[in-house]
Amino acid sequence: MPELKILFSHQQIAARVAELGQHISKDFAGEQVVLVGVLKGAAIFLSDLARQLDLDATFDFISVSSYGNEKHNSGEVKLLKDVDQSIQGKNVLLVEDILDTGITMSYLKEMIMARHPKAFKIVALLDKKPRRKKPIQADYMGFEIPDEFVVGYGMDCAERYRNLPDICVLS
Ligand code: IMP
Ligand code: MG
Repeated sequence: MPELKILFSHQQIAARVAELGQHISKDFAGEQVVLVGVLKGAAIFLSDLARQLDLDATFDFISVSSYGNEKHNSGEVKLLKDVDQSIQGKNVLLVEDILDTGITMSYLKEMIMARHPKAFKIVALLDKKPRRKKPIQADYMGFEIPDEFVVGYGMDCAERYRNLPDICVLS
């Protein structure tokens, strides 16, 4: 039986998401933004963050698969679902659950930048800095975490635990 230990409670997450929302609202005051969530892990974070933005915001979603399993990323990324609308000239906020090796984000950044957005920022709830293989950073980051596998608040292990309200370490 795997064991779950709370790393960040739903109260801690809510407080941090509210702070991120305030920062983003301040930085993009008076502008329109498109939140592009990376399915499925970022769906819950995006829905909470969106409600903390005092901005004219729209949503879109993207889906990628990294070959291999969640724990061992092979380094190849495949686009499974693209955004529905043109992002040219828009303020794009790419919303991700975890920045881990950075392979997914580097791929998505390159793809989005090629479409000439007005601005491009990465919003990552969690950051596992020591695991980075690509030189990429979040512009807005919730929490830095150690190299441990986490689940909950949208994040999964073989599709399970996404519905946990807290972020937990799975051991
Ligand atoms: P990267 O391309 O290695 O940065 O992979 C990022 C993706 O791997 C994240 O969006 C997650 O879907 C997944 N991932 C990385 N670490 C974890 C974890 O601890 N729990 C759940 N998913 C993770
Ligand atoms: Mg993900």
